[in-house]
Amino acid sequence: QKEERERLYRLNAFAAEFYKKILWQTKTGEKAVAYLEARGITRATAEKFGLGYAPPQWRALVGLFRKKGVPLDEAEKAGLVCGGAEGYYDRFRDRLLFPITDPRGRVIGFGGRILGEGQPKYLNSPETVLYQKSRSLYGLAEAREGIRRQGRVIIVEGYMDVIQAHQHGIDEVVASSGTALTPEQVRLLKRYSDKVFIAYDADAAGEAATIRGLDLLAAAGAEVRVVRLPAGEDPDSLLKKEGAAGFRRYVAESVDLFTFKLAYILEKADLATPTGKAQAVQRVFPLLTQMQNEIAREAYLKQTAAAVGVSEASIYDQWRIYKYNLRKNKQRLDIKNNQRHTNDIAPARRRQPDALAGEKELLPLERE
Ligand code: UTP
Ligand code: MN
Ligand code: MN
Ligand code: MN
Ligand code: MN
Repeated sequence: QKEERERLYRLNAFAAEFYKKILWQTKTGEKAVAYLEARGITRATAEKFGLGYAPPQWRALVGLFRKKGVPLDEAEKAGLVCGGAEGYYDRFRDRLLFPITDPRGRVIGFGGRILGEGQPKYLNSPETVLYQKSRSLYGLAEAREGIRRQGRVIIVEGYMDVIQAHQHGIDEVVASSGTALTPEQVRLLKRYSDKVFIAYDADAAGEAATIRGLDLLAAAGAEVRVVRLPAGEDPDSLLKKEGAAGFRRYVAESVDLFTFKLAYILEKADLATPTGKAQAVQRVFPLLTQMQNEIAREAYLKQTAAAVGVSEASIYDQWRIYKYNLRKNKQRLDIKNNQRHTNDIAPARRRQPDALAGEKELLPLERE
């Protein structure tokens, strides 16, 4: 098993070298070099990330492997070729290749971008013994030092975002590659830093992914903040427009989890009408119940009041009522469960249903 992994690492490393050579040293590679230039990526950056170019032929890598006596079934296990014994062919053709590495920098797979328009925009390695999409973070090997130095990590969506950030001297950046952050990626990230900034694309997909990622990160105990970019931008496009200083400004203006979710709720609310305001407030309250810190909760209640446009006094009133109802419902459930339970094992000690009446008085109306 260990030997197989080692062999697959070697095949990936070999392929990465081949694709680099095609990119920089052949006529075929010229259009990929031009593409990089058009995207504002320097040769130094491209080399730092080991970028390459897969030529358009169906059997460039296959031919080379044959010549070298590399078993093609093994190359297929590495995700580099497809087709099986019926007829092997190269998985990556006519694409700019981003080698995907493990945290130590060993190549485990590739992401390949089409030069221009077309589907799919990025073709990635399939799941292999070495590469599991849900467990890898693009750019982690290159970002490790930056993450330690800055004491934080910035997660972006894509390959280009990572390398453009590094090119601008922002080196604590990794990509979740595609939009959904997974629990495994969160676990991996947390080994490097507890302070995580999400800087996903400012579009609907990025926003939805931000919300999911936030909850995962918060549940894992990370301190999360959201970088909100201008509509339609991603870190790559923003860096090109506004430079490192511009991007850093958005990072500095990042918002915490509550503020991000509050904005998301209010965006969808109708704050012009009293019922719309009341509804929005009711949607915000569940966010506050999970909060352990009473001082933070008070600050967020004030923030909500200001954002919705109601007085602090009335938002506190509503919050008290909300909490009261929450406790009442919980208590009802507890009693019900308790009854069910005692019915099973000890019917004699069953609580009387009218115990409810007594307990109702004990429900504190004050905030705790
Ligand atoms: P985006 O659609 O935001 O692409 O996908 P991008 O990174 O901005 O790419 P450019 O700037 O157009 O070149 C974000 C990431 O999602 C993954 C890739 O990792 C991509 O970088 N993705 C996207 C795929 O794996 N396949 C796709 O077809 C599209
Ligand atoms: Mn995107
Ligand atoms: Mn993008
Ligand atoms: Mn982009
Ligand atoms: Mn929005």
